[in-house]
Formats: sequence, structure tokens, C-alpha cells
Amino acid sequence: MKKFLFLSVSALLLAACGSKPKTAEVVEPKLCDAFPDYTVGVAINVNQSNQKDAEGVAIIKQHFNSIVAENCMKCEEIHPEENTYFWDDADRFVEFGEDNNMQIIGHCLIWHSQCAPWFFVDDKGKQVKPEELKQRMKDHITTVMTRYKGRITGYDVVNEAILDDGSYRPSLFYQILGEEFIPWAFQCAMEADPDAELYYNDYSMAQPGKRAGVVELVKKLKARGIRIDAVGLQSHMGMDHPSWEEFEASIKAFIGAGVDVQFTEVDMSALPSVNFGANVSDTEEYRAELNPYAEALPDSVSAVWNERMTTFLGIVDKYAKNVRRVTAWGVTDADSWKNDWPIKGRSDYPLWFDRKGQMKPFLVDRMKKKGLM
Ligand code: XIL
Repeated sequence: MKKFLFLSVSALLLAACGSKPKTAEVVEPKLCDAFPDYTVGVAINVNQSNQKDAEGVAIIKQHFNSIVAENCMKCEEIHPEENTYFWDDADRFVEFGEDNNMQIIGHCLIWHSQCAPWFFVDDKGKQVKPEELKQRMKDHITTVMTRYKGRITGYDVVNEAILDDGSYRPSLFYQILGEEFIPWAFQCAMEADPDAELYYNDYSMAQPGKRAGVVELVKKLKARGIRIDAVGLQSHMGMDHPSWEEFEASIKAFIGAGVDVQFTEVDMSALPSVNFGANVSDTEEYRAELNPYAEALPDSVSAVWNERMTTFLGIVDKYAKNVRRVTAWGVTDADSWKNDWPIKGRSDYPLWFDRKGQMKPFLVDRMKKKGLM
């Protein structure tokens, strides 16, 4: 990105007072300044929170005011065995956010995927009994939230529990506890850190069935006095989905149910879609025709992609009063999980910075419109 010269406030003040500043400070424009109504986040990997990826770290520090851990706070990472927590990576992640004055988001407490296998098995190797699973959930939620009390703004308390048709996902949590596992998780979280924000997070939120299921869930929690502050729409998108009308209808429905919204895992695949969701276990075999831009993204495709991202942000901005955060699911295209999901080994272009660390045109346009470039 080009460097732009700005006079710093102090330089301007000096000038106003009559003494000329000796040098003008070079201030790089910050992406998050183009989004005054909500925070602008990014999912960071351990190479970034451990500061090994210097180029990634520079982009994160320069442009984002919120971070979420891409993997290191998931159960299998942070709590691999019943009596073993692994804190090193999560601690570094939280310190990274604090050192850089960022909002820090916890992802995620209860999720069927990347959950450590011990969670569902008792000491005799049998499926764990409901009361024991409840106790394990409580211990896990309480231990993680207590460690980061006052430091993490909010948590995805439950991730991906509702299917596209609005029914409950038949995860082990559901099989063992039924739908009560969700209120229980929120109840435990609310007690563990009363000041942390609590979120329900899911993909394919534009699906009418899922929308209805999530609205019902929010209402049920609220009717029981269980706090839920926002719904997270993951927003893993493609060139042919979601339908903007349905997406907007979901935003309206969630706000109407009495919660804020946030766009928590934003990416937009530029490749042929083989799957409209983001269910990590739904994978496909590699086929060359599904990897058409192995070398580079053609300008014509890039133009449509940027247009679609502008449309997406336009919808988000319409509801800005109720939007807490928009978070990109990775820093540069090279970091994106989409290169390996749902098909391993493709070259995708789904994020906000390209493989050279350059900001994508839809964001440059926004910066220009806000007078930041
Ligand atoms: C993905 C990560 O990006 C990958 O690195 C990991 O291998 C699998 O999980 N929904 C979520 C995220 O809530 O946690 C997932 O992240 C993507 C789908």
C-alpha cells in the first residue's frame, strides 16, 4: 500500500500556535478508522500471536482493533485431557491483544468440532452420563473464563448447534443432554464472568430454517433470564451465496429478537462452490477444475469479488446501530483455512489482504471515501 503523509495532531497544533513543526509525521492509514461504528477484527493464528509471522503481525497491529483466536482456545487445544489445560498459546494470544490495546474475543467454549474426545467418555470408556457432562462443561467454561476474567470482552459460548433446517445438530452434547445443553452453557458462562459478553455463533445464517431456529433459541434463553448479548453470523461466503435478501432478513430477525449482531468469521471464497456451509467435517476430493486460479485471480473475477464484499459491508452498515463487530477469518489470503477446506490444496482468495499483504480494492475504496487515503 502507498504511504500517505498526514500531519499529526500535535504538528497541527504547533502550526496553529505559530511555531512551525520541524518534521511531519508519517501516519499510516488504519483500516479500523474506516469503521467508526463497530470494531474490526481478525482471526489470528499461533504464528501471529507468538509473533513469528512478522508480516502478518504488522498488518494486524496496523489495521485491526479486535482479535479472535483461530484455533488456540478451542477445547482440543486448550483442554486436551480432563485434568490438563494447555494455556501457553491462549495466554500469548490474550497478551498480544492487551499489548496492542485490542478488543479480545474468546472462540469458542462449547462446539462439537475440535472438542477433545475425553469430554464424552467416562473413566470406564463408556459414554459419559448427563450429569457428568454438565459438570465437565461447567468446569471447562468456568476455568477458561476465570483465567481471562476482565481481559476477554466476550465469548462464542456455543458454536454451530443448529442445522440449516432449524433443528438441533445431533452432536454428542445434544445426544447426551438434549437442547438443555445450550442454556446450561450460557448459564455457566454468565456465572463464570458476569461482565463478559455472551454470543451464539453459527454459519449459513441466511438459511430461513436456521434463522428461525436461532430466533427461537434467543427467545427461549431470554424468557428464562439467561443472558445472550449477540448472535454471530460467521459469514463464510462465496461468489454465489448467500442470498443478500435472506442474509438481511436474518440480521433483522436477530435484532428483532432482542440481541445485537456481529459478523464473526468473514471470508468469501472466489472458487467454485462445492458446499454452501462451513461444517468442518464436510470435505471433498481435489479436482483440478475446482482449483481454476492456482496461479492468480483473474481481474474480472476479482472485480466481482470486490463488488460483492462492498455489498456485504453495505448491508452490515445499514444495521450499524446493532452491529458490535466485523471480523475477517484470517489476515492474508495465504493464511485462510479456505485454501484447504472443503477441498485440500486449492488457492483461494477469500480475505481482506492478498498474499503480498496488500489491502483489497473494496477496502481501499472505503478508506478513500472516509478521507483516510
Ligand atoms: C477453522 C480454522 O480456521 C481451521 O484452521 C481449523 O482447521 C478448522 O476450523 N467455523 C468456526 C471456526 O467456528 O472455528 C472454523 O475455523 C471455521 C468454521
